[in-house]
Amino acid sequence: MEFITYEQEGYVGIVTINRPKALNALNSQVLEELDATFKAIDLDATRAVILTGAGEKSFVAGADIGEMSTLTKAEGEAFGKKGNDVFRMIETFPIPVIAAVNGFALGGGCEISMSCDIRICSENAVFGQPEVGLGITPGFGGTQRLARLVGPGMAKQMIYTARNIKADEAYRIGLVNAVYPLEELMEAAKKMAAGIAMQAPIAVRNCKKAINDGLEADMDQAIVIEEKLFGDCFETEDQKAGMGNFLEKDKEKKLKVVPFQNK
Ligand code: CAA
Repeated sequence: MEFITYEQEGYVGIVTINRPKALNALNSQVLEELDATFKAIDLDATRAVILTGAGEKSFVAGADIGEMSTLTKAEGEAFGKKGNDVFRMIETFPIPVIAAVNGFALGGGCEISMSCDIRICSENAVFGQPEVGLGITPGFGGTQRLARLVGPGMAKQMIYTARNIKADEAYRIGLVNAVYPLEELMEAAKKMAAGIAMQAPIAVRNCKKAINDGLEADMDQAIVIEEKLFGDCFETEDQKAGMGNFLEKDKEKKLKVVPFQNK
């Protein structure tokens, strides 16, 4: 891997996009390496993933403008599909992915953060979809996920005006869950990931699937999706241990961490 680093800290995987000379912009190679990195994650040993960018200035400054500048219509569409396929793989990754947005999250950078389950950012983060200023549309999911996350009115304003927003505004409109000083961002992301990793892993995965799949269905179908994934948790070792632990009269035992089995 030239542009992606992967670290494993206990049950937490940390994926870092590392192309600082181009502010971590996404060219084809970065997209391919991201895809391969996620697909290589050991899902028996990992319960949450953090996605971040190398350096102190940029999370991801977008798709690579140099690479896109000479594309034909057909090549442009294929490049959009390449990004969309990788981002959809992240969105539907079986375990939660937290974006730790450490600076610029523009165009494809904002879009990849939106394919993650949760976004937190540093105070110097800047979000935006500047594509119309470059003569193109957001092409890695921005026209779809931004409206779903912050509502169509705000998404259209951001996309049509190509105006960037700072961390406090991203927080105000619900694009990020929390803002931290840059030096505290990764610790906060790791703490959140560790908090997820302590929970019953099958239940967490099923929650992600229920929320994602349910949002794409109408309510009648969505509650059936929930029922199936709820039922799926029963008879697991985690469900027996988790509930048994609660029902123990001994307070110490009740509070002990359940040795979740992932099966
Ligand atoms: N693609 C390619 N290279 C990029 C890049 C990008 N998206 N963003 C930054 N870089 C490169 C610059 O070309 C520069 O390289 P050189 O040193 O070789 O000249 C290097 O990164 C540093 O960038 P700047 O000198 O511009 O740094 P700055 O601090 O002055 O500005 C910035 C930072 C405001 C983020 C500015 O770099 C910028 O506006 N970048 C482009 C942001 C953008 O428009 N992103 C959307 C891309 S389109 C897209 O993503 C389409 C889609 O939906 C799929």
